Amino acid sequence: MAFLFQVLCNLEFVLAHRGDIREKEFRKENGRMAISKKVKGALNGASWVRRMFEEGEELKRTYGEENVFDFSLGNPNLEPPPSLKKALKDLADHPITGMHRYMANNGYSETRKVIAEYLSEESGLPFEEKHIVMTVGAAGGLNVILKALLDEGDEVIVPSPYFMEFKFYIENSGGQIHLVETNEDFSLNLKEIEKAIGERTKAILINSPNNPTGVVYNRESLEKLSDLLKRKNKVLGKTIHLITDEAYRRIVFDGIELPIPFRYYPHTLRVTSHSKDLSLPGERIGYVAVSPLCEDLDEMMAALVFANRTLGFVNAPALMQRLVAPLQRNSVNIRIYEEKRDLFYNALKDFGYQIIKPQGAFYLFPKAPIEDDVAFIKELQSKRILTVPGRGFGKPGYFRLAYAVDKKVIERALPGFKEVAEKYGLMRN
Ligand SMILES: Cc1ncc(COP(=O)(O)O)c(C=O)c1O
Repeated sequence: MAFLFQVLCNLEFVLAHRGDIREKEFRKENGRMAISKKVKGALNGASWVRRMFEEGEELKRTYGEENVFDFSLGNPNLEPPPSLKKALKDLADHPITGMHRYMANNGYSETRKVIAEYLSEESGLPFEEKHIVMTVGAAGGLNVILKALLDEGDEVIVPSPYFMEFKFYIENSGGQIHLVETNEDFSLNLKEIEKAIGERTKAILINSPNNPTGVVYNRESLEKLSDLLKRKNKVLGKTIHLITDEAYRRIVFDGIELPIPFRYYPHTLRVTSHSKDLSLPGERIGYVAVSPLCEDLDEMMAALVFANRTLGFVNAPALMQRLVAPLQRNSVNIRIYEEKRDLFYNALKDFGYQIIKPQGAFYLFPKAPIEDDVAFIKELQSKRILTVPGRGFGKPGYFRLAYAVDKKVIERALPGFKEVAEKYGLMRN
């Protein structure tokens, strides 16, 4: 009876919407879609990270979660520092009146002040709270910067391999990505960058420590980049801005000190977040900091605040702004990532894989032993190992491993990597 009722209801729905359905079919046949062509194109080229994630879910359903070794997604598995949880509880127990209300679009003054103090100490530059805009993660911050800077058709130079979302963020603001190759060791190739700079260049976007390679750009390369940009600014009679994505800035290894781009180039905008250093990716909290030496500073800050507002972020999450303020000098235990880097890197090197040793972030980017990186990652998939092909980052012939996972996932995956290495003759003995 219930079934019959359901059938009648469905029939009634179809009859009532007959016109709509015919109209939809007509539109489909005539190539008119509900969604934008740009988005449709992006969806057709769906992200490799996402694709692998979905295939992984299927494998997990078939073999059980513990028997699938998932290195596809850069999702930090460490818990935030206990002090954050304590502060969260304190705030819930002793709420501050108005703490859930709207605020100035650049964020709480107290939080920006603490960040400015931290940045002044780090860079030796006179940062003030007015140079900071709190954002919805680094992703939100990048979109805010790009909206503030770009006019239709402006170009942003990006060294490749690169975090694929950059392309979409640039296009969100009507810009175009201009990819340049890096050197063999994934360091900045200044010659290629110089060749790429032209009339349409508005900015260069660098990411160090890098996703997907884990490479850190050294001080010398940043100094040279700064010299190049200053020279080009003179020749072209304009200012090219340097956007530094430092989402992984706290995750560095081997005792190295991460160079501070603010020290070398005045027109620098840093975007970062607490997604990785405090393991808070789901909470969406980050900031943009603009060098106090940046040209037309007041106008730039006004543009960033406007972008934050009108992109619909309005302001960064209020609760998180309060909680991260006292944690500017804290982070999760980076040594845990370093140990995993050592374990994974050393084992893969022993099996004969070619890899540049990463000095930061939580990724390895080995060379695939065959040209076709997609065919190669399928091979790994047959061992229930999930990775992302290099072409997902603009670099076919490589593959990315995100190792922000439990140590035992790495350990249990190693035999599979070894078998595949043997199959392709990578093993030395
Ligand atoms: C290079 C890079 N930039 C930005 C982001 C976005 O970070 P957030 O979570 O802070 O938006 C990511 C995230 O993985 C990233 O890898």
